[in-house]
Amino acid sequence: HRKYRPTPAPQMRDRQWPSRTITAAPRWCSVDLRDGNQALLEPMNVAQKQRMWALLVKLGFKEIEVGFPSASQPDFDFVRWLIEAHAIPEDVTIQVLVQAREALIVRTFEALKGAKRAIVHVYNSTSPVQRERVFGLDRAGVTAIARQGAEWVQREARKYPATAWTFQYSPESFSNTEMDYAVEVCEAVLDVWQPTPAQPCIINLPSTVESSTPNIFADQVEYFATHISRRDSIILSLHTHNDRGCAVAAAELGVLAGADRVEGTLLGNGERTGNMDIVTMAMNLYSQGIDPELDLSNPDEIIQVAVECTALPVHPRHPWVGELVYTAFSGSHQDAIRKCLQRQQADAPWQVAYLPIDPLDIGRDYQAVIRVNSQSGKGGVAFVMERDYGLSLPRWMQEELAQAVQRTSEADGGEVDSARIHALFMQTFVND
Ligand code: KIV
Ligand code: ZN
Repeated sequence: HRKYRPTPAPQMRDRQWPSRTITAAPRWCSVDLRDGNQALLEPMNVAQKQRMWALLVKLGFKEIEVGFPSASQPDFDFVRWLIEAHAIPEDVTIQVLVQAREALIVRTFEALKGAKRAIVHVYNSTSPVQRERVFGLDRAGVTAIARQGAEWVQREARKYPATAWTFQYSPESFSNTEMDYAVEVCEAVLDVWQPTPAQPCIINLPSTVESSTPNIFADQVEYFATHISRRDSIILSLHTHNDRGCAVAAAELGVLAGADRVEGTLLGNGERTGNMDIVTMAMNLYSQGIDPELDLSNPDEIIQVAVECTALPVHPRHPWVGELVYTAFSGSHQDAIRKCLQRQQADAPWQVAYLPIDPLDIGRDYQAVIRVNSQSGKGGVAFVMERDYGLSLPRWMQEELAQAVQRTSEADGGEVDSARIHALFMQTFVND
């Protein structure tokens, strides 16, 4: 059996229409320990951050935003622990967030003292509502904040030459900013940092509050990508939120529109309705035969750690990993799944109706695929009798047993488990 190896879905093997598709995983950045954490009722303590960090590293994240150390003492302490305990693998880079304010930037670099590598992520808000109502500034005033922030970051970085620095800038509320101005403010930052192809910087485009359909966000990304100068010296990153329920779609279309990198969280934790769910986007790629470059072969561990660190439950119908997503109750679905599984050969491409991937690939088994209640039919009971008791029933027996199971489920309500189905079988055909 092939385990956690993406195989091209039929629509990817035989495409007859001219639409673009994503052909490789973007560069991922987890913001669980920052955006995810800041949205929690009870933010993670250092021990929980360590647990989440260990998971993120194990999953294969190479860039991890670990906090906002100038704004929170636990975040500061966690960054110090990462550096002093030598907990950062050679191929992983930590990232920290800071507002474009001098004292905060100075403190951020203090937190990072001794790091081998780090991404310093500076941001300020750029949308008209933020400019006018929150800051009482015009475009030039907000550009000055961004430019100043970039200068302070550069000045502080020069004080710590032993660290390999990467600079990142976010025009917060990008998707609600006029596009010509979004480009203008980022140009001001680039003028300070002077990135090169050998030493690029990251420009991160947030939909801080998702407020359009994903195609509009993608148009904005495309506009930005084609109007910004020094495109070859920029890693273009996306940071989408899920206010309209489309954060994953927005990131996917944004990648098609020219972005290189995507920020998000495991299972979509984050401010309000959450950040873009990296598990969903990565599994979307996986199901299309594209290596997501993250090891998601054990989602139960991801769920366990996420619940432990965030105290938020995972919906049983959460895309790809929810408890019920590989389960069929309805008779026609069960019948189709049973027939497809019988015809599925071990090394052949996965072709099972209603199951977009092989559940075994991500550590789920067939036990849960077919569960029986009053919605189920003969296919479901036949599957259970075959799977659990090695009994292949003729059609008339399947029909009679299905009726007995249906009566039981209607009388008792809910699911009829395998042992009860077997008992009903004995009662119907053996004991009588
Ligand atoms: O949502 C957002 O805009 C952010 C920025 C600070 C990147 O989290
Ligand atoms: Zn955010």
